Amino acid sequence: MAGEKIRVMIVDDVAETREQLRKLLTFDPDIQVVSMVGSGEEAVKTVASVQPDVVLMDINLPGIDGITATSKLLEVSPTAQVVMLSVQGESDYMRRAMMAGARDYLTKPPSADELIDAIHRMAKLKPIRGAEVLTPATGMGSGGASLGSAARRGKIITLFSPKGGTGCTTTAVNLAIALQSTVGPEIKVALVDLSLQFGDVAVFMKLQPPRTIADLASRASEMDAELLATVMMPHPSGVKVLAAPPTPEDAESLLTADVVDEAGGNRLIKSILKFTRQEFDYLIVDTTHAVDEVMLALLDLSDMILVLLRPVIPEIRGARNFLTLLQKMNYPMEKAGLVINSVDNKRMGIQPEAIERNMMPALVHVPLDERIALTAANYGVPFVVKEPRAPISQAIIKLAQVIHKNFSDETEESSQPAETQRRSGLGRLL
Ligand SMILES: Nc1ncnc2c1ncn2[C@@H]1O[C@H](COP(=O)(O)OP(=O)(O)OP(=O)(O)O)[C@@H](O)[C@H]1O
Ligand SMILES: [Mg+2]
Repeated sequence: MAGEKIRVMIVDDVAETREQLRKLLTFDPDIQVVSMVGSGEEAVKTVASVQPDVVLMDINLPGIDGITATSKLLEVSPTAQVVMLSVQGESDYMRRAMMAGARDYLTKPPSADELIDAIHRMAKLKPIRGAEVLTPATGMGSGGASLGSAARRGKIITLFSPKGGTGCTTTAVNLAIALQSTVGPEIKVALVDLSLQFGDVAVFMKLQPPRTIADLASRASEMDAELLATVMMPHPSGVKVLAAPPTPEDAESLLTADVVDEAGGNRLIKSILKFTRQEFDYLIVDTTHAVDEVMLALLDLSDMILVLLRPVIPEIRGARNFLTLLQKMNYPMEKAGLVINSVDNKRMGIQPEAIERNMMPALVHVPLDERIALTAANYGVPFVVKEPRAPISQAIIKLAQVIHKNFSDETEESSQPAETQRRSGLGRLL
């Protein structure tokens, strides 16, 4: 994209508004308004020939409204990034707009800064999906996208580290967005926060979900798609987030003793996960650092377990113990993968290669980058969005590619059974 301008299409039925938006955008030399249309129908009809990077879409349009226009437009031009514009107080509309595939929204009238920032953010989302990253060597052209939505059984990818502060949440959040961005809007990615008492996925994504997984507790055995959709919070990247309860007390309804099944797993969590995976291609799951009833339920359903560690002795020891525990439980070890986080080749420390010799080859080494990681956590803007070219982001994007390739290559026959037969008894001993 270097040197190229960001191509913007403006969709608004009021000519004066279109013109105001265009004028605001003249302040940025990297942005070029390539089309202005007055209706959703016209936008859908012309988008393929215009090929905008970003579409500014008014939500209230005569004829088809902005939400319908967005989903139709994305069918024709799936790489366009739609930013929805609406007057204040239309939050329910906004939710629907995000469901329809809009990546962001702005309140009318937006300031020049808001508008220009949003457009740059959208444009940054684009390259990590394009050919620049997906080189032929990775074997993942855009054709290898969906995992087959006809009989969808999404892949559950669990991130776990026995120690706290290792980077589990950071990795989960960025991995979910990287998967969505590398593969494209044709796959559905959910990010589930199973750190039920102190989960912070929503904070890492600057989301304030009105509902959380706790709202599913009383309906876990009779879930339906509509209920799930009202609880999952859309992020501008396209990822849908099932957030952890706002306070530890709110998690109680999911953690009562009578929800534990005979194998030691949390029955409610299992039901919620089983239903959610029917609605998504991937579920990226963040966890706490304990093998408890929630984790046992999750492990039974996980298609991949990513064990995270930093190159320090206590974390190496913890990760090794956890892998040994998985073996004792008869987990198929081919489901387990290692992620070494905060690798710093310049500092003295344990070499990642030594860890790999001691345990297993890692899927990826994620470099230490305190500035980028801390800024991302503090501002709630994941680094794969803000700085997709940085080595820390590239490492997570590579992880997303490896994961997607793994599951795209998997044939029906070689795919693992839906539920792992864990050695019974061990669950209860824990
Ligand atoms: N590769 C990295 N380089 C530098 N800092 C990092 C890296 N990955 C994560 N961090 C930082 O480490 C801190 C802990 O990260 P994070 O919250 O993701 O870990 P966690 O394992 O989920 O922790 P918790 O125990 O709170 O669940 C955060 O401040 C994050 O910004
Ligand atoms: Mg965490």
